Amino acid sequence: MARADVLFGIGEAAQGDILGRVVGVIDVLRASTSIAVALANGARAVIPCEESEEAITRAKTFAKKEVILAGERRMHPIPGFDLGNSPGEFTREVVDGKTVVLTTTNGTAAIASTQGARDVVVASYVNYSAVLAMLRSALRGGNGVTLLCSGREKHFSLEDAACAGRYVRGLARDLPGVEFNDAARASAVVERRYADNIALLFTDSEHGRALEEAGYGGDLVTCAAVDSCPVVPIYHDRQITKLGPEREW
Ligand code: MLT
Repeated sequence: MARADVLFGIGEAAQGDILGRVVGVIDVLRASTSIAVALANGARAVIPCEESEEAITRAKTFAKKEVILAGERRMHPIPGFDLGNSPGEFTREVVDGKTVVLTTTNGTAAIASTQGARDVVVASYVNYSAVLAMLRSALRGGNGVTLLCSGREKHFSLEDAACAGRYVRGLARDLPGVEFNDAARASAVVERRYADNIALLFTDSEHGRALEEAGYGGDLVTCAAVDSCPVVPIYHDRQITKLGPEREW
């Protein structure tokens, strides 16, 4: 049986943690959640970009009516962009049939750091069970799994660690023999502390409090809604699309 590891920030990733593995990228607040919401609401694809200039250039390669330019810096929408990074902005009315070009502070950089992975999936609470099923089948097939927390400024963040812990507990269930690293075991301890009280998790987390203070408290409710967007977002060829009946993993 393969192993499943957690990395608490992209600064921890060594090549062996990513190469040939199935990588779940977690940025609960808010990039992973926004991506899942956009795809669940019919976006054709989400293109993650590290820099805002890159996002603008990429968006210009599409007809204006086919693209939505979205992103944040210091949590707020980037001037001139169509949307910020509040998951509630990615409604069906806005994104259906469109390509979303997205740049965020930590999340899109974490996604971009996964070169060489076998598969990359974007994981959060809102698509927990759908992504867990995919990761379980990867492990059963003998593939190594890495849960890569975006964290804050490449370091530990409480909410990503707790979400990773929920995946770890889900992977451990009825799959004997999976080996976990210490960070995975620690994340499961954090998860047990909060369990279904994700509101408390966000209140305790630095980024959760910062979002609340910046006026994005409503986003915290959306980000805590476990399984509200049952999509499996796969990053491939520099874009994220929804795994569906037309594209099995
Ligand atoms: C990020 O990528 O750093 C986050 O999604 C920031 C945020 O918008 O809350």
